[in-house]
Amino acid sequence: MMNNLQNLMLHSIKSGNDDERLWQEDGLFAYCYNIVFRAGYLALFGNEVAKTSGSVDKAKELDRKVSDELFYEFRKYDQLFPKLAYGVLGPSEKMEAERLKRLFWNVLSVMKVNTKENISGWVSESQQMRAERGMHESMQDRHMFLLLWASQGNTGPASFWLLLFLMKHPEAMKAVKSEVDEVLRETGQEVKRGGLLINLTRDMLLKTPVLDSAVDESLRMTAAPVLTRAVLEDMSLKMDNGREYKIRKGDRVALFPYTAVQMDPEVHPDPHTFKYNRFLTPDGGKKTEFYKGGKKVKYYNMPWGAGVSMCPGRFFAVNELKQFVFLMLTYFDFELKNPDEEIPDIDVRRWGFGTMQPTRDIPFRYRLRF
Ligand code: HEM
Repeated sequence: MMNNLQNLMLHSIKSGNDDERLWQEDGLFAYCYNIVFRAGYLALFGNEVAKTSGSVDKAKELDRKVSDELFYEFRKYDQLFPKLAYGVLGPSEKMEAERLKRLFWNVLSVMKVNTKENISGWVSESQQMRAERGMHESMQDRHMFLLLWASQGNTGPASFWLLLFLMKHPEAMKAVKSEVDEVLRETGQEVKRGGLLINLTRDMLLKTPVLDSAVDESLRMTAAPVLTRAVLEDMSLKMDNGREYKIRKGDRVALFPYTAVQMDPEVHPDPHTFKYNRFLTPDGGKKTEFYKGGKKVKYYNMPWGAGVSMCPGRFFAVNELKQFVFLMLTYFDFELKNPDEEIPDIDVRRWGFGTMQPTRDIPFRYRLRF
């Protein structure tokens, strides 16, 4: 992941003195989603092979090109998705969604993915299992698109909210930045012109409780999945307030933890305010005790769902977010073009589909720090 992030974020940006380091402008959402999607895709589905591409640099260049083209098409599908899920696509949108699906089945076909190197165990082993179980090859290709969708549709938007909340809350940015600087200092690394790229290890990422809390808080406010469960036998579902619901075999139950817990002011006072240290104890550890009506709440934040189908990619996703923020803070100066910019509303058409997207993008600028 780290190599891919560095390939995408640092390849074309000039270092130098103040006049040489030109500011680059972009939409914050467009930038974050693009980088995190592409780096995640390359980390999971593999890189171009240096031998067949001609050289390591050529392979890296090809990785940048191929992943950018894939992201461009993915966003089209992503934008159609709410209507697709509700079954209300217009005729031309239906054709476009069909075209895109076929494109992804082709680009991500088992045959094409197998020409890459550094394919993640998650993709290659689960693929091998499907093949061994005799799944038809065309279904295996379709499954690859499903994995892309599950793995890349949420983390990019999540990285946007996290960075935006940090930029809009200077005290949070300061606390996270000083933690990141400290972790870097402890390992004797320094980011400087002409210096080595930083080596961000798993150990380093385990020493960031403040950043962890900021990630949890940002997901609390912007991850709003509907969790659907099939009822396998007649049963009654007891609520904490004593109410009881009889549900039948064959029913479906849908839960929406966003309003039920994540935005409950009793569990999370002042729930619409980003508090970077909400998930920190006074002595700087991870806070896991939250209460409602005097009783401890077991599920106080559910961006990943719960139970048997809880998101299996949650550790990877958090690491992606942390590595991205780490690189932004260590390598770049960045700021909103309009510091008074309001945090945009959530696009309500996407309620239920995981990490929310904003109703509009926010212009920002960035340049190397050295
Ligand atoms: C911020 C990023 C992400 C969020 C908020 C998120 C959230 C979720 C949620 C809410 C579910 C459904 C859980 C349930 O029904 O209880 C889910 C399922 C899933 N997620 Fe994630 N996810 C993220 C990133 C990822 C990543 C990076 C991967 C893969 C590397 C991934 C792979 C999956 C898969 C395969 C499932 C289906 C699991 C099943 O049905 O058994 N997710 N995710």
